[in-house]
Amino acid sequence: MSSFWSAWIIVLTVVSFILIVWLLFSNRKITVDENRKTTGHVYDGIEEYDNPLPAWWIKMFVISIIFGVGYLIAYPGLGNFPGLLNWTSVGQWEEEVQRADQANAELYQTFMQQDALALADDDKAMRIGKRLFANNCAVCHGVNAEGSYGFPNLTDNDWLYGGKPDQIRQSITHGRNGMMPAWESMLGNEGLAAMTQYVLSLSADNANSSANAEPSAAAQQYAQLCASCHGADGTGNPMLGAPNLTDDTWLYGGDAGRIKHSIAKGRSGKMPAHKDMLSAEKIHLLTAYVYQLSQDSPQTASR
Ligand code: HEC
Ligand code: HEC
Repeated sequence: MSSFWSAWIIVLTVVSFILIVWLLFSNRKITVDENRKTTGHVYDGIEEYDNPLPAWWIKMFVISIIFGVGYLIAYPGLGNFPGLLNWTSVGQWEEEVQRADQANAELYQTFMQQDALALADDDKAMRIGKRLFANNCAVCHGVNAEGSYGFPNLTDNDWLYGGKPDQIRQSITHGRNGMMPAWESMLGNEGLAAMTQYVLSLSADNANSSANAEPSAAAQQYAQLCASCHGADGTGNPMLGAPNLTDDTWLYGGDAGRIKHSIAKGRSGKMPAHKDMLSAEKIHLLTAYVYQLSQDSPQTASR
C-alpha cells in the first residue's frame, strides 16, 4: 500500500476521533433542568425525558476513546507507518512465511531423500500430499481424486499413461495431451455405427464367441485405423495415453452415444504441466500421494 493511502486512513481515523469527542461533549448535560424535564417529544402519549447520560456510560466512552488513540499510536500497522511498536501486518505475515519456509525446507529435504514408494507409507508426507492435491489438482480430478467426465480417476488401477511413480511424475511435471483423431469423415455414418458396436463388443467380454468367426468389416477397419494406438487387442498404449477399450472404465462415458461421439469428433484431454507451478519437492510429494491413492484399490494392477 502506498504511503498516501496509509496517511489517508490515519487522517480519517483522527478526524473521526475528533468528531466523536466533539459530539459527545457538545451534547453533554450534567444537571437536570427543572423547568424542562422532557425533550418535548411525544410519541403516542409517551414522553421523552431530557436527562443527562449516565456517568458510567460517559466514562466508558472516554476510556474507549483513550484506548483508541493509544492503539492508533502503537499499532497503525499501515504500510510505511509502522507505529511505536514497529508492527505492520505485512511485516508479521513475512515473518510467519519465513518461519514456515524454514521449517518446511528441512522437512522437504528429508522427503526428497526418500523415494516415492517409501514416502507413500509416510503418514506425515501423505497428509501434506493431500493438502497439495486439494490446492492444485482437485479442481479437475475432484477432491477424492476420483475424476469426472474427461478427467481421469486417479484412485483406480486403470492408467492412461501408467501408474508407476516415474510415469506419474512425468504426467505431473510435463503434463499430458491425449490426441484422439476425429473419424467422422473417414468412417461415414454407417461406419461410425458399426465401429461403435465393435468398440462396445471389446468390453462386453465376448472375446470367445468371436474368436473363430470371420472378422467383421468393423474389426478390419479397427485393425487398420485404431490398433496402432489402442493396440490390436484394444488394451491401449500408455506411451500415447490411448485408453484401454476392453475394460469398463471410460474417460468420456461408455454408452453407445458417448463412444460414438468420441470416435466421430475425436478427443483431446489436456493435463497441464506443473513444472513451473510447483517445486520439485512438491511434485515429489504429489507423485507419492497419487501413487498411494491407487494402492488400496481392489483392482489389480493392469499395467
Ligand atoms: C486443468 C485440469 C487439470 C489439473 C489442474 C490437473 N490435471 Fe491431471 N489430468 C487432467 C486431464 C484432462 C488428464 C488426462 C489427460 C488426457 O486425457 O490425456 C490428466 C491426467 C493426469 C494423470 C495421468 C493419469 C493417467 O491415467 O495416466 C495424472 C497422474 C494426473 N493428471 C495428476 C495430476 C496432479 C497430481 C495434479 C495436481 C498437481 C493434476 N493432475 C492437475 C487435468 C488436470
Ligand atoms: C493417434 C492415436 C489414436 C488413434 C489412431 C485412435 N485413437 Fe482413440 N484415443 C486415443 C487417445 C490418446 C485417446 C484418449 C483421448 C484423451 O485422453 O482425451 C483416445 C480415446 C478414444 C476413446 C474414448 C475412450 C474413453 O475412455 O472414453 C474411444 C472410444 C476411442 N479412442 C476409439 C477409437 C477408435 C474406434 C479408433 C479407430 C477408428 C481410434 N480410437 C483411433 C488415440 C487414438
